[in-house]
Amino acid sequence: MLIRILGAAAGGGYPQWNCHCNGCETVRDGGAIPLTQSSIAVQSKEDGSWFLINASPDVRQQIEAMRAEGCFNSHSGNRSLPFAGILLTDAEIDHTTGLILLRESTAPLNIYSTATVKQALTSGYAILSTLQNYCGVKWAPITPGEIIQLTDELEVEAFPLSTKAPKYIQSTIQSTEIEVWGIGLTIRDTITNSTLTYAPGMGSINNDLRKRFENSDCILIDGTFWTNDELPSLGIGARTAQQMGHLPLSGDDGSLSQLANITTRKIFVHINNTNPILIPNSPERKTVENTGIEIGYDGLTIKL
Ligand code: MLT
Ligand code: MN
Ligand code: ZN
Repeated sequence: MLIRILGAAAGGGYPQWNCHCNGCETVRDGGAIPLTQSSIAVQSKEDGSWFLINASPDVRQQIEAMRAEGCFNSHSGNRSLPFAGILLTDAEIDHTTGLILLRESTAPLNIYSTATVKQALTSGYAILSTLQNYCGVKWAPITPGEIIQLTDELEVEAFPLSTKAPKYIQSTIQSTEIEVWGIGLTIRDTITNSTLTYAPGMGSINNDLRKRFENSDCILIDGTFWTNDELPSLGIGARTAQQMGHLPLSGDDGSLSQLANITTRKIFVHINNTNPILIPNSPERKTVENTGIEIGYDGLTIKL
């Protein structure tokens, strides 16, 4: 299978339109490469179907970048969507807003998500209901622990991640309700017997998750924040990384130290524009590179 990082930044992108943090200004000064918002695509085999995983507000630009690099060999004249399906890991605005941009598809969008995400996108942020009046939606459930056959070669298994409900729906949720808001995906190529695990939003790493990472050939993992108080300390947000459901990279219990002994190929994605690892030659970036974890970027392609 082929995996392409379409966008390596978290919500807002790099730079974010209203942000003047060190990183965003570095991009504007030409000192760092811009990044679009969080999404990947997976292709089963050469010339095979592509699947989109999360639909970012930058999906239009991301599809054009794929086209420019020859990802889509054939192009029919009928304005069809170049993805056989779209899988959602959560109902966050930055992972779902791209669906609205795909409304021009001539065929209904094949969308896979948990029932919880479907509900959020039907009532809280009603993208799926809206799309019914445009291209339409064919929804299929993702249930953690169950395997879905995407193509003859590719199967996907979802697993629960510790994440928070999207902000737009938080006020309507009872604090006692226990729900899985975000999932990760393990995608297995049954021909090459290789696996990718994608976890763009994870608040903690338990033993099951650690084993899953160890048993994967490549993991794409939450790289949102360097420190827990990154946004409050910059005066640009009230919530800590943990309150947003993201495990920060640094610190004794941070993801860098928790992932240190996992020998799988590891790549950070969903990196927030405030995270200093995005700044070339920063000490934080060097620390990450020295631990052997890669920092994702748009267009990075992995063959498994
Ligand atoms: C997240 O990744 O935590 C969310 O996308 C942040 C947001 O509310 O935009
Ligand atoms: Mn996000
Ligand atoms: Zn910024």
